[in-house]
Amino acid sequence: MKPYKSNRRKFLSSVSAGLAGGLLINTISPHKINAQEKLVMATPDNGEYLFTPGMVYLNTGTLGPCRKDTIAESMNAWEQLESIPLKYYGRWGAESLAEKTRTTAARFLGCELDEMMITTSTTNGMNAIAQGLRLKAGDRILTTDQEHGGGALCWKYYEKYNGVVIDTITIPPGENNAEKILKRIGEAVKTNTRVISISHIFSSTGLRLPVDKISAFAGSRGILCIVDGAQAVGAIKVNLKELGCHAYATSGHKWLMGPKGTGLLYISKDARDLIRPMQFENSHNTYNDGTGVVNSACILGLGKAIEYIESVGIAKIEEHNLSIRNRLYERLKGINNLSILSPAAGPLASPMLACLLPENIERTEFTRMLLDNHNLSIRPTHKQWFNGIRFSMHIFNTEKEVDFAADVVREELGR
Ligand SMILES: Cc1ncc(COP(=O)(O)O)c(C=O)c1O
Repeated sequence: MKPYKSNRRKFLSSVSAGLAGGLLINTISPHKINAQEKLVMATPDNGEYLFTPGMVYLNTGTLGPCRKDTIAESMNAWEQLESIPLKYYGRWGAESLAEKTRTTAARFLGCELDEMMITTSTTNGMNAIAQGLRLKAGDRILTTDQEHGGGALCWKYYEKYNGVVIDTITIPPGENNAEKILKRIGEAVKTNTRVISISHIFSSTGLRLPVDKISAFAGSRGILCIVDGAQAVGAIKVNLKELGCHAYATSGHKWLMGPKGTGLLYISKDARDLIRPMQFENSHNTYNDGTGVVNSACILGLGKAIEYIESVGIAKIEEHNLSIRNRLYERLKGINNLSILSPAAGPLASPMLACLLPENIERTEFTRMLLDNHNLSIRPTHKQWFNGIRFSMHIFNTEKEVDFAADVVREELGR
């Protein structure tokens, strides 16, 4: 592991010089911003979160925060259920509680109730889809080299144990060209290709894929289009019918800001005969003979979290997220030792932005230093992609916070 070469001393001296001169306070140190000012600069709801005071959290792509009202919803339900633990069994009402969330999720994502299922994560949903396909030796899966492990392991399992063949197209981080991606997918399809499995938004760079076009192409060739939507739902507008994919898995604990260990799974009516996960074989209900007892309290919290997103409006949230993301893009441009790999503002951009670091700066050390020294939480990118950092911007983040992040990164990397 390469050591992180810190510029901390230089940064601190610039801060103290600034403080001495009455400068810099609001530009590079949110710790110096009092609670009142922070509330004013934040969205009206910023007090509804439990962040450590002064924390600048640009990491929803890893895990989103639960709002206080979401936690209260889950805690109340949990206490109620534990008053007689048997209440977790369906006939006591826990089932109808969880079903309420399924109804909310189906409405939010624009599908029918019977096409929506509750899971524990994106990975759990992708595994369910893959298992439900019952693939056999010689079947082919077409995917990309930018898939997250949570969307890729299920196919690797089939490759290892069932002789399924994986065809992987390369999408170099930073290429950001939808036409090239569509062309590569078109050229890589073979006679036995049964599935095209792609992310809606790449975990690596935040590149937004043209899922509607890929789904239409897959459909025209009799191939199933399966989407890993971990980084999309709650971050941008997602309408499953408009996307036209056959199955879609996402997380409750990222952009939806639901309790950890919750997720959503969509299987379109058209694909129902082909994709039959064991746990939903007899029923798509949240609690059924194929799932066993579920965490009804957290699932109820997920419903509350989705209702909050609906109340603000997903179009408004997307607009906010992209606006501060694009602002950060402009501010990170031209920083020495940093290359932005995410697309410029436009249809391929999402609320996540990733940059390449030089080889001599180790990404996990760098992000740990940002958290320890500046109370700034961002994510090191996965090693298999590149030595980089990723910023995620959501509804509770502000322009001031992304300006702060850019200033800190600029100072730490040197001008
Ligand atoms: C694209 C993608 N897929 C899947 C996952 C895994 O999500 P979960 O932990 O909900 O399974 C992630 C997590 O970062 C992701 O970015």
